Amino acid sequence: QSLQAYNTFGINAKAAFFSDIESPEVLQDLRRQHPERPVFVLGGGSNLLLTQDLDQWVLHNRIMGKSILAEDTDTTLVRIGGGENWHETVLWALEQNLGGLENLSLIPGTAGAAPIQNIGAYGVELSDVFERLEAIDLSTGKALEFTKEDAAFGYRDSLFKRSLKEQIFITAIHLRLTRRQHHLNTSYGAIPETLEQWGIQQPEPKDISRAVIHIRQSKLPDPAVLGNSGSFFKNPVIANARFEALRDQHPAIPGYPQGDTHTKVPAGWLIEQAGWKGRRIGNVGTYHQQALVLVNHGCATGAEVWALAQQIMEDVERQFGIALQPEVNVL
Ligand code: EPU
Repeated sequence: QSLQAYNTFGINAKAAFFSDIESPEVLQDLRRQHPERPVFVLGGGSNLLLTQDLDQWVLHNRIMGKSILAEDTDTTLVRIGGGENWHETVLWALEQNLGGLENLSLIPGTAGAAPIQNIGAYGVELSDVFERLEAIDLSTGKALEFTKEDAAFGYRDSLFKRSLKEQIFITAIHLRLTRRQHHLNTSYGAIPETLEQWGIQQPEPKDISRAVIHIRQSKLPDPAVLGNSGSFFKNPVIANARFEALRDQHPAIPGYPQGDTHTKVPAGWLIEQAGWKGRRIGNVGTYHQQALVLVNHGCATGAEVWALAQQIMEDVERQFGIALQPEVNVL
């Protein structure tokens, strides 16, 4: 089975076995039939670089369903099937006049994958609205639940990405959204700028969503047009003393304080300074509007993308002494 249509980089790798999983029961049955087969769980394939064919059994999450579990005066608890498209989930919440997901508009991928790397954008992370998730233990077939505390969320990080990696299949997530008194986050400068241009003074969640969609479309390539996986690297977090030393050498370096001791540096800035923004080598390159996004210009292999990533990492390390870490899952 070719995986080309199942990863947003558009890499033509193959899977030895492939199954669409439409319910938890289907997964439990299949697992009972083939308990020994190593598996790989696939959602929207939007945070994935395939550098080789997979000899694992690819389990494609197609568990659907969006429903309201409970309501109180101010909030609504919703349950979203793990295979639901993330952006459609955001639009559905906005149609119900629910707030909390608007800043996360247009992020590619599925609801079930969202907690794994704690998706985030424009000042909001999934952890801000996450309440719990339902999953199947891939080795025993048992149903499990994890709360927000269990999830141990961090910046693009969670338990599901560390010790539970490839151990569980996320069947549904529960999100607590606002019905009224929405907590609108306009901390990212381009959002208020866009709203002002549009003459919107009292924004509602759907206005923030429209602004985010506008901003993303102007900066980030559409994977349907140009294969990519969003930010390829994480933004490195370094000790303040190192940041100050770097700023002496590069006075323009941007930095965002992380508590009192550390500073987050935009990897896109480091990559641009290292001369990589918009550069193309054969089938691969970085996006001309956002150096942090690696793109597939045609029929690139995963190995070509990875070779480019390594060259960028070496150059950034040499110039700034910072080791970039991939944000995408490199297989
Ligand atoms: N910058 C450059 N050159 C570039 C790109 C960025 O100089 O080519 C500098 C600019 O100073 C800019 C700053 O970096 O102000 C930050 O850039 P941007 O606002 O585009 O955000 P980012 O830090 O590159 C992060 C997330 C994105 C998320 C945006 C908005 C990570 C790894 N990436 O990108 O998430 O959409 O903020 O919140 O945290 C993703 O994870 O796939 C992703 C796209």
